[in-house]
Parts: sequence; structure tokens; C-alpha cells
Amino acid sequence: MMGIINNLVLALMEKEGKKDEVMKKLGLEKEYDAEVAYPEEEFQRLVGECCKVLNIDSDTFQEKFAEFVIPILREKFPGYFEVKSAKEFIVQIPTIHGLATTAGTAPKLMVVKNTDKEIHMIYSSPNKLCTMAKALLRKVVELYGESAQVKEKECMKKGDDYCKIIIEW
Ligand code: HEM
Repeated sequence: MMGIINNLVLALMEKEGKKDEVMKKLGLEKEYDAEVAYPEEEFQRLVGECCKVLNIDSDTFQEKFAEFVIPILREKFPGYFEVKSAKEFIVQIPTIHGLATTAGTAPKLMVVKNTDKEIHMIYSSPNKLCTMAKALLRKVVELYGESAQVKEKECMKKGDDYCKIIIEW
């Protein structure tokens, strides 16, 4: 996971008044380097510790993080949000991730179907962040003042090879 995301997790913990506690527990002396791709285990360790410190489960943490991160992403990357609809934003997510990650990491999110009424996305990652993905997508739909359902057909957490997320207008 890119350090920028690990740092955003730390920023959320700072807002919760628990950043120092988490850093101490993980033995972190400084924040992550935003441009470096860290092992996925490091991210999982970080999130695991955050859940413990906040006394919440992973899904609740992912929803909290999605809520927290959207305004920050809008501020940091305003250009990506200049499109006119949620659909236009969502189809560019794989491109955004391609630009934001160090070359060599396999794409974790792909658009596999794009019609007038629906977009199908495939998500595959050992981080199993489909709850975060769905929460982010719902936020994006809301941001553009639209009404769409975000559902999950297949899910890694149920033993499927990947998660299939469907956004239906
Ligand atoms: C301006 C908008 C966005 C930027 C700049 C951005 C950037 C990033 C970056 C840098 C990562 C780390 C990827 C890696 O290290 O492999 C990431 C992960 C992720 N992003 Fe985004 N993202 C944005 C919007 C979204 C949206 C709207 C979604 C909704 C589906 C999303 C879903 C995810 C997921 C699920 C991951 C975790 C992948 C994993 O490691 O399992 N992102 N994003």
C-alpha cells in the first residue's frame, strides 16, 4: 500500500486523538513516505491496531475512513473531481490509481462493465477493503447529487476470488 494511504490512516487517528498511541504500539518513529509502496502486511498491521485502539471492527473502521478521506482527496486532487457526473468519476478510478501507485503493483480495482445504467467493478486485494470501496463509491454518488445503489455480488470475505461491486443508477 502506498505510504500516502498509511499516512491518511494516521491522520484519521490524529483526528480521533489516538495517533501517538498507535504509532507507539507499532514502534513507528515517523510517518510513512507518501511515495513509497509498503508491504500490504504493514497496512494490515496498522489498520488492525487502529481498530483495537478505537475498539471498532474492520468494517466500521473502513466506513469511518471513507467518510474522512473524501474531503481530503477533493482538496489534494481537485482536478479528478472536475468531471460532471459520478459515473465519469468512477470510470476514471483505475486510471487515478495507476497514476498514484508505483509502477509494478498489480491493479486492484478494475471497471469490467460500463453501460448507461450500471458500472461493474472487480476488486481483488489481500487487504479486503471492499467495505471501504463501497463506502467511497456511495460518497462519490452523493457528491454529484445523484441517486444510485452500490451493491456487492461476489465477495472475497465470503470465499470468492474477488469482490464484484455494482453501481446501479
Ligand atoms: C482522487 C481520488 C483517489 C485517489 C487519489 C486514490 C488513491 C489511492 C492510492 C494511492 C491507493 C493505494 C493503492 C496501492 O498502494 O496499491 C488507493 C487505494 C485504494 N483505493 Fe483509492 N484513490 C481515490 C479514490 C478512490 C475511490 C473513489 C475508490 C472507490 C472505489 C477507491 C478505492 C480504493 C481501494 C479499495 C483501495 C485499496 C486497495 C487495496 O490495497 O486493497 N479509491 N487509492
